Amino acid sequence: MNEGFAHTTVLLQEAVAMLRPKNDATYVDLTLGAGGHTRALLEASAPLGKVIAFDQDERAILAAQSFLSEFKDRLTLVRANFRDVRAVLNELSIDKVDGLLCDLGVSSPQLDEGERGFSYQHDAPLDMRMDQRQKMSAKDLVAKLDARELTDIFRTYGEEKWATRIASFIVKERIEHPIETTGQLVEVIKKAVPAAARRDGPHPAKRVFQALRIKVNDELGALEDVLAIAPDILHLGARIAMITFHSLEDRLVKQSFVNESRECICPPHTPICTCSHVARLKIITRKPVLPTEKEIADNPRARSAKLRVAERFAKHQNL
Ligand SMILES: C[S@@+](CC[C@H](N)C(=O)[O-])C[C@H]1O[C@@H](n2cnc3c(N)ncnc32)[C@H](O)[C@@H]1O
Repeated sequence: MNEGFAHTTVLLQEAVAMLRPKNDATYVDLTLGAGGHTRALLEASAPLGKVIAFDQDERAILAAQSFLSEFKDRLTLVRANFRDVRAVLNELSIDKVDGLLCDLGVSSPQLDEGERGFSYQHDAPLDMRMDQRQKMSAKDLVAKLDARELTDIFRTYGEEKWATRIASFIVKERIEHPIETTGQLVEVIKKAVPAAARRDGPHPAKRVFQALRIKVNDELGALEDVLAIAPDILHLGARIAMITFHSLEDRLVKQSFVNESRECICPPHTPICTCSHVARLKIITRKPVLPTEKEIADNPRARSAKLRVAERFAKHQNL
């Protein structure tokens, strides 16, 4: 257990087994978090397998330096956004790797450490930055965006039914008092969402907090970037395993795997193919792998997890 930085790893055995870890191979864990997948990959590829583990959160890197110290130079920790994986591998003089793993979203410590401002359950500065070096925080978005932009974020990333009302309450409230804490934002949301709608279902702030977090960290942008690069950094036969937690992420992963597995991506009914697209991935999981009922009972956070896996292949072996 990563003391003081605990997170129950989701789909641990399933994701690692899909990568078929081998001794003397190199893997990339794009989302180190509390190190559960990284540790399992290192153990399964012992004695010589290597893992390069990314996280943009300094706390995750610092915790792993002691939690995973026994693996010595088999593990390289990189504090960077995973969208920069190509540049980081270049710096490490690595062209291609034998597997990529990505377990999206936030870690439990990010949610549980109130002061990070991710949680509507702890009153704290409204922050939500995974990378503490980043300038823009949730407070800046809530202070600067106009009602239309806020509505759009709440609707698109949070599927919030009361998006327009919440945005207009925020804009009114901030004229009187700047909204600087999670507690203040929760109060505004509670005022905006009618009592009847607040009675059932999840916490009224859940969707708005999710939406702001996705926007602050440009989570979908980073995901699109890494999906576009992934086939280029995998050896032939190497696999990519992606764990997602909501439908927007899963759709991007699914669509990218489908596109990368097609010989042609011209619009439907195009008489002659002009795209010169070449299939580079083979889909391994036609349907996503889901957590078992037991895993969900033990770790409710696993409820919405989906694992999709694809394998680098080439008709012409030099691609
Ligand atoms: C769900 S946790 C990973 C948990 C990990 N698999 C484990 O077993 O403990 C996701 C982690 O990915 C990091 N993360 C999310 N998006 C990232 C990005 N674009 N670049 C780098 N790290 C990112 C977060 O900071 C967080 O620590």
